[in-house]
Amino acid sequence: MNILLLGSGGRESALAWKMAQSPFCEKLYIAPGNPGTAEVGENVPELKPMDFASVLVFCRDKSVGLLVVGNEDPLVGGIVDYFRVAGSELPIVGPDSKGAALEGSKDFAKRFMAEHGIPTARYRSFTAATAAEGREFLSELKPPFVLKADGLAAGKGVLIIDSLEEARAALDEMLAGKFGASSATVVIEEFLDGIECSVFVLSDGHGGYRILPVAKDYKRIGEGDTGLNTGGMGAVSPVVFADDVFMSKVEERIVRPTVEGLIADGIDYRGFIFLGLISVGGEPMVIEYNVRMGDPETEVVMPRLASDLVPLLAAAAAGDLADIPAEIDQRAAVTVMAVSGGYPESYPKGLEITGELHPAGSIVFHAGTSRRAVDNALVTSGGRVLAVTSRGANPAEALSQSYNALENIHFDGMYFRRDIGADLRRLEIKD
Ligand code: AMP
Ligand code: GLY
Repeated sequence: MNILLLGSGGRESALAWKMAQSPFCEKLYIAPGNPGTAEVGENVPELKPMDFASVLVFCRDKSVGLLVVGNEDPLVGGIVDYFRVAGSELPIVGPDSKGAALEGSKDFAKRFMAEHGIPTARYRSFTAATAAEGREFLSELKPPFVLKADGLAAGKGVLIIDSLEEARAALDEMLAGKFGASSATVVIEEFLDGIECSVFVLSDGHGGYRILPVAKDYKRIGEGDTGLNTGGMGAVSPVVFADDVFMSKVEERIVRPTVEGLIADGIDYRGFIFLGLISVGGEPMVIEYNVRMGDPETEVVMPRLASDLVPLLAAAAAGDLADIPAEIDQRAAVTVMAVSGGYPESYPKGLEITGELHPAGSIVFHAGTSRRAVDNALVTSGGRVLAVTSRGANPAEALSQSYNALENIHFDGMYFRRDIGADLRRLEIKD
């Protein structure tokens, strides 16, 4: 089967790496792709994921049998709806725009959870017309205050604020357009105190699902989880506190009600459901839904999936996962993100990357890299540049492997966190 994967980040580098290993994958196209995906498939740099008409023409021309949508924008923008209206029955991994609203609208996601009894923080939503009630609601909550822009805001739409006065001012700013149309509606919710993890579910829209390996990502730029938020500085799988007891609560209280709730609401959800969870005293609650895989979590989830990914994706997209296994590799996997100096604020691009990019015992996934036109040299092209993944008997062993590999990779200003997974190791010692 020919497969088209949309996207160009570390997540797509890992998805492409995994799919390319399948005997069922004939030709793998990645649009636009990056130099990492070019090592395992054929990039289509001129094909833009948001240009649905061109994606459809490409799929027809190249006899694509499976479309895998890596990032949320085309899903929230309605790529699946577009194909269906155009009469295409191409199997697609990713929900239609109704399903994608789980990520595209936090207000919708909160209402969905309330209706289906899925544990999440207490909340209310406000618009400019109800701003006064919003300020009042804030005074009923205990600090810190959590304010979320309803729509997509490139990961920047969540504010956590200690003082009531500042939270009220932030509410006014958001409603006045701080995040454009995304914050025309603002969700205010209770702060949950706990430790987070990411659970990924592959759903076939008919009640069938597979739970993939659980991961934890590290969002802050600085060691000890300090400094500004980033797209993710590293990830670990498995997660020590997400043990069998916790995961069975997740399945019973969150995964099943989500999958069944989608069916009850008439949403034919075929694709990944990303549950951003928080464990509050051992009880899982949903912080957010995303409608795609996580980045950098995918860079540890894919290496821990022992089964062939392609039959899983094809079956989910076809609506029947019943007979398709998702076996998990018992080894641990970790990934450490090498980022540009200055990230997540301004940073230079176009710096040459040298060293060992195919180290024995590690996998180097590309996130923000490109080829320089004049000499084809590998250069930086984004904040997050490379994700260096390793597997081992335990996370510590895998980590030292990734840190060894990073010793031999260079670009000016390269930075990475040396404490990925350290919080989980401390938990393990307490156990
Ligand atoms: P998001 O941009 O939606 O991924 O949210 C960013 C981060 O804000 C989450 O990963 C959490 O760390 C934090 N967060 C969001 N909602 C809450 C909440 N209700 N309580 C505590 N932390 C939260
Ligand atoms: N690592 C979190 C995300 O992909 O949104």
